[in-house]
Amino acid sequence: MEDESRNSTETMPVLMKQGAEAKLYKSTFYGKPCIIKERFTKCYRHPSLDKSLTAHRIKSEVRALLRCRMNGICTPTVYFTNMENSSIYMEEIEDAQTVREYIQHVQAKESNDTANNILKPLGVKVGEILGIMHSNNIVHGDLTTSNMLLRGNPVELDVVIIDFGLSHFENFAEEKGVDLYVLERAILSTHPNTEDFFQTILETYKKYNLKSSAEVVAKLDEVRLRGRKRTMVG
Ligand SMILES: Nc1ncnc2c1ncn2[C@@H]1O[C@H](COP(=O)(O)OP(=O)(O)OP(=O)(O)O)[C@@H](O)[C@H]1O
Ligand SMILES: [Mg+2]
Repeated sequence: MEDESRNSTETMPVLMKQGAEAKLYKSTFYGKPCIIKERFTKCYRHPSLDKSLTAHRIKSEVRALLRCRMNGICTPTVYFTNMENSSIYMEEIEDAQTVREYIQHVQAKESNDTANNILKPLGVKVGEILGIMHSNNIVHGDLTTSNMLLRGNPVELDVVIIDFGLSHFENFAEEKGVDLYVLERAILSTHPNTEDFFQTILETYKKYNLKSSAEVVAKLDEVRLRGRKRTMVG
């Protein structure tokens, strides 16, 4: 990747991961460990549509990362945005694992009941974060256990939310209900026996989104029903 914005004392970017829409590099920004998230061109899209979609995703991601922080939700600090090469330079969350990796690790080691007990405080923490996010009208758009990082010792529940490219600001219960539905599907399809874990998230969510949780949960039920009908029809 081209990187003319920083001087030669910075660490050369090293490719860490290639997702569906972006490449992630590890580097430094003025000496601080940073992640560069570079969105790449999708050849199947019309070039001008691709350009505007990419710009839209970058803006949404940066805006939501900042708005979360303003509301006390941990997200990586944004250091710099380069629209020329479609990149966001952000703080690297060091010593972190994804919530997905952590759940898999706990489930591999423990019996179902013990794993559920160990994961309960994490469910409470995630429910709290999502309740605060939604009560501030931040809809994530791609809630999965890979888009939540656990920094340091998992027992400390230092959860950092990432990957806001599909986020938007909306005060519609429907959008928030879909956000929760996407998370429920992601959890239940990735991790076996996590019904209790999701229930804990939902119960805590209700306490932290007092304004609209009744409406949102009603929408969640509606979306679940639609999902089920679609599966039955095929
Ligand atoms: N700021 C960060 N600090 C540490 N690790 C990060 C950071 N941002 C992203 N990662 C790591 O890179 C992975 C992919 O990042 P992200 O979810 O933003 O991109 P993505 O293109 O959506 O990838 P995917 O399609 O796998 O979700 C994360 O799951 C996480 O492991
Ligand atoms: Mg992701």
